[in-house]
Amino acid sequence: MTDEPRDPRTHTEVHRVADPDSTRVATYLAQPGEVGRVLLLYSGGLDTSVMLKWIQDEYEAEVVALTVNLGQPGEDYEVVRGKALQLGALDCHVVDAREEFAREYVLPAIQANADYGDGYPLFTALGRPLIAKLAVEYARRSGCDTIAHGCTGKGNDQVRIEGTVAALAPELKVIAPVRSWAMGRDEEIAYARKHGIPVKGGTETAPYSIDDNLWGRSSEGRWIEDLSHAPDDDVFQLVTRPELAPDEPEVVDVSFEAGVPVALNGERLGLVELIEAAAEIGMRHGVGIVDHIEDRIVGLKVRDIYEVPAAAILLKAHRELERLCGTIHQNQFKPELDRKWAYLVYAGLWWEPLRTDIEAYVRQVNERVTGTIGLKLFKGSVRVVTRESPNAVYDAQLATFAESGGLFSQQASPGFIEIWSLQSRMAHRLRNG
Ligand code: ARG
Repeated sequence: MTDEPRDPRTHTEVHRVADPDSTRVATYLAQPGEVGRVLLLYSGGLDTSVMLKWIQDEYEAEVVALTVNLGQPGEDYEVVRGKALQLGALDCHVVDAREEFAREYVLPAIQANADYGDGYPLFTALGRPLIAKLAVEYARRSGCDTIAHGCTGKGNDQVRIEGTVAALAPELKVIAPVRSWAMGRDEEIAYARKHGIPVKGGTETAPYSIDDNLWGRSSEGRWIEDLSHAPDDDVFQLVTRPELAPDEPEVVDVSFEAGVPVALNGERLGLVELIEAAAEIGMRHGVGIVDHIEDRIVGLKVRDIYEVPAAAILLKAHRELERLCGTIHQNQFKPELDRKWAYLVYAGLWWEPLRTDIEAYVRQVNERVTGTIGLKLFKGSVRVVTRESPNAVYDAQLATFAESGGLFSQQASPGFIEIWSLQSRMAHRLRNG
């Protein structure tokens, strides 16, 4: 195992190797002797709680905890902080990053119609670079030499977090205990019990692996890994199941100014509030459930159950309005850039300059994306029903041929058709004699 020399329990073996660097898989990984004070990305859950204690014991290091609020519902941050301190953290910082997340991460995703693999609006992928950026800031501020996180060795999140740390802070080292400590869930629970770490719920059923923020919620694990297993009802903790949604549809008007969603049903809201309000309406109507098979960065395919009520509404409205305000050529070109943008973000390359290069174009297009889209929500479906924009490349009179307005003559159509089809006609004739 190439991992072994990094495992603190094989400490002595590391020193038996002549050149420790020759066994290091990546230069940013911490060797046991290098770890003095660790900034731990702390959620308050089992993994990171066990980690908080384990790092102190195994590395004889100090731990500073950081908990980032990206709008995950139902979190009590005072409780999380109390738990960290009780487990021996020097300090536990709780950062409310909702505003920054909405403005700097979710908004560009809306403007790029971000939808990886046809269904994943990237909420986790958008959150990780911000969380890791804050980890770097707080690590520097509190004199830490190492950042620790709770991601496994199978997922995308380790790539996003470590990629960010390596890009922003080459001087900091990383440890990922879950990747190396070889404890399964039962061992973790045993470790927790032994060290007085509170364990929620029973041990019979492992919980789903959940990640959530303002922009959505994902569930992985358990039966979700069985592709032939249709979703059990208990996985849906956010969105009302469509069969239980109201029998009456509801129309919601989403207004944009220069590509920024600014109002719902005519009421102006800040971006965080607007996303939360859209999520709330969507949840009620069973909107935004996605059962997704995804090509991961780390080779595997994975199935996720996503609940993305706000994205289901806002992405749909944005894409519709953008198309209305764009020409046929813009509308054919932009999705190619959008797809590349989403892939870079999914793949953990937030700090890649191509992302901001693409965003320059995306922003330019979005300057004209102003207007209102009406969506009808009904038992899980979202359908565009009205459109209104001062920048619509649309002329009702032209569309009905009532009046050419000097822009268009029906008499010119046949001439156009003859020229437009010229090459195709010639090629067809060559093939068919
Ligand atoms: N599959 C999604 C992604 O790679 C969601 C991951 C959610 N993370 C988690 N720890 N459950 O972005």
